[in-house]
Amino acid sequence: MRIILFTGKGGVGKTTVAAATGAYASTEGKKILLISVDPAHSLSDVLEKELSSEPIKISENLFAQEVDVYYSIERFWGELKDYIKSLFQWKGVDEILAEELSVLPGMEEVSSFLWINKHIKDGFYDAIILDAAPTGETLRFLSIPDVAKWWIDKILPIQKRVVKVVRPAVKAVTDFPLPEDETYDAAEKLFNDLFSLYKTLQNPEISSVRLVLNPEKMVIRETERAFTYLHLYGYPVDAVILNKVVEENNFLYNIQKNYLERIETSFEPLPVLRIPYYNKEILGVRDLRKLGEEIYKNEDPLRIFHKDKPFEIVNLDGEYKLRLYFKNLKKDKISIFQKGEDLSIRIGNQKRHFYLPRILTDKKAKEAVLKGNLLEIVFE
Ligand SMILES: Nc1ncnc2c1ncn2[C@@H]1O[C@H](COP(=O)(O)OP(=O)(O)OP(=O)(O)O)[C@@H](O)[C@H]1O
Ligand SMILES: [Mg+2]
Repeated sequence: MRIILFTGKGGVGKTTVAAATGAYASTEGKKILLISVDPAHSLSDVLEKELSSEPIKISENLFAQEVDVYYSIERFWGELKDYIKSLFQWKGVDEILAEELSVLPGMEEVSSFLWINKHIKDGFYDAIILDAAPTGETLRFLSIPDVAKWWIDKILPIQKRVVKVVRPAVKAVTDFPLPEDETYDAAEKLFNDLFSLYKTLQNPEISSVRLVLNPEKMVIRETERAFTYLHLYGYPVDAVILNKVVEENNFLYNIQKNYLERIETSFEPLPVLRIPYYNKEILGVRDLRKLGEEIYKNEDPLRIFHKDKPFEIVNLDGEYKLRLYFKNLKKDKISIFQKGEDLSIRIGNQKRHFYLPRILTDKKAKEAVLKGNLLEIVFE
């Protein structure tokens, strides 16, 4: 099983590139499922085919599904939602409002992703390709597990025991709806499913995130941020896809030119796959296959392009060290410039930008040491 998740800033080409990857991979005889988990679906437009909340066959070996959030919530959270709704109703909230309120924050994003578990269990597809929401929302979803894990480990088991003991007493004095054992069991099952999903998404042998971007300043910054946080949360990014690169005779060329080098270096050691800007729309399976071939050339689109961590942050006795891996480092003069979240590093005439996570923004880079293809920066 292989899972590839495409994310990036709004409008950069996530849906197009995800669909192209799926369409091209399906020509090799593998069964591919494209899933749109972005609530603002556009996969059906790109495929030129009406989609539904269950998978539909698009062409030989290619299937697609546009996840419907409410349908998924009912399917995966039904029991919990009913309980939450009963709490609101007990509080005197009217039925329709209670129904609305019973959708907790995060439930929507999570529900769509839970389909992946089902497909893994069914074992029908060789690969699942996800057209995800823009980076901000995707990061929010992927950062949920730590909080949820604490909740499930610490709170749920205690509550379950307490409720068992107090239920008769509470029942005698009030009609407050205490959760039944089944509600807890449903919650536990759901959280277990969720954790196994997160574990799968963090396993570099199975899952990869691919970041799609364009040569534009704002897009690059947001993608650098996603690159930093995805790795901090433990999700392997295996490639960067640079889309909409214009030719020399285009008026945008001079603007884009300034960013091409930055993109090549900022995501090192990941490969950057380039896609030219086309003067026509890319629609339908035939166009998408052709685009897939253009992106991956003769490589297998399902290949794992990169497995190791591209950077590490370690805390040794209160001193933070940022270790950045490069493709090819030559010994040369190093200078470092730090401003807010942006760390720019110059080694000889090579320059690399790194988006600093919150933990390092209030510290100062004081020393940089080269160790082979690794640059270690000490913060204080
Ligand atoms: N290489 C390209 N050349 C020309 N047009 C492109 C290219 N890639 C994508 N497009 C066009 O750019 C637009 C946005 O693409 P797409 O919908 O794939 O982006 P997205 O990142 O999924 O957007 P959203 O954030 O809205 O989901 C579409 O009209 C698409 O046809
Ligand atoms: Mg899209």
